Amino acid sequence: MTVFEPLERVGHSPLVRITTPVPQPHPGYFAKIEALGIGGLKARSAQSMLAGARRRGELRDGARIVESTSGTLGVGLAYVAQALGHPITLVVDSELEPAMRNLLRALGATLVIVDEPHPEGGWQQARLDALHHILAGDDAYWPNQYDNPDNAAGYHALADEIVSGLTAAGIERAEVLVCSVGTGGHSSGVGHRLRQLWPDLRIIGVDALGSRIFGQPATPRVMRGLGSSMHPGNVRYDMFDEVHWVGPNEAVHACRGLARGGFHTGGWSTGATATVAGWAAARWPGSVITIFPDGPDRYLRTIFDDDWCRRRDLLEPPHTQPHEIDDCEDPTWCWTRCESVRSPIGSVSARTEATAR
Ligand SMILES: Cc1ncc(COP(=O)(O)O)c(C=O)c1O
Repeated sequence: MTVFEPLERVGHSPLVRITTPVPQPHPGYFAKIEALGIGGLKARSAQSMLAGARRRGELRDGARIVESTSGTLGVGLAYVAQALGHPITLVVDSELEPAMRNLLRALGATLVIVDEPHPEGGWQQARLDALHHILAGDDAYWPNQYDNPDNAAGYHALADEIVSGLTAAGIERAEVLVCSVGTGGHSSGVGHRLRQLWPDLRIIGVDALGSRIFGQPATPRVMRGLGSSMHPGNVRYDMFDEVHWVGPNEAVHACRGLARGGFHTGGWSTGATATVAGWAAARWPGSVITIFPDGPDRYLRTIFDDDWCRRRDLLEPPHTQPHEIDDCEDPTWCWTRCESVRSPIGSVSARTEATAR
């Protein structure tokens, strides 16, 4: 058995064939189960961002790292920062599950908890405001996962693992990649690498209803992880053939269906990508691949709690097909799909929102 050094252990998650008939019967697709990689999905970007900063001399030996996180990057950063000998401060918000707070503290992180969302920029902007306040009085390093290109570059190895996993299964190429989008890191990194290999690969972005990333107005969301109330610099709008906004009903139904029918399940982004990957596998011939960003543990009191879901009407039957819109700024109120993706930065509605701030 090979004994890897801590940083060599990052990644290497299994590629699993999923046949659970969610949101409808389909011939199967492949999912990378990132919860089964050490440090999780975001240990990949944490490793890449910290290595880049150390190489450029921006992160000194033993210096403190400060970052805003909805949880997943916190775990990845904790793993990599421990291995490299850096203390970390994580700016989180009061919506972060208590168990995740305890885990991050147990891993040695200092937590700063923001308890009110920014009126327009939501929790993300509120966390960033607090982070800038901390940075002003300290010479700590801020990786800035939203705009740091090393975030996306950290996922090239994930693409390579997909290729070797498919090759081992006797499959020459994939036709469709389905990826959730938050900072844009893993969709950009994996999509860029796979497109170099397969230029015709169809890339589908998966966002949450109420997220601002692809041109919709920001509204309060229960779905966390994917989606954003800002326009992160790492999102490569030119890369996507289509975008889907998935609702919490579809995600809950998918997470629960996956757990019952295929064991591997996860949180909001896993439910959303499973919804779109199942739909895509039923629609297009050839291999569909996706990435399940995290596992179910932190969602046992939400997605997997009957009372919590019932109080929010999330156990109602979900849609099995997306509603179609022609323009990413057309209204959305349920699972929706748009095939003309463009950057909303500089669009009339984005400018109006910015002026309203
Ligand atoms: C659970 C989960 N899923 C999906 C995403 C989106 O990934 P990315 O930031 O690489 O776009 C995130 C980002 O924080 C996440 O925490």
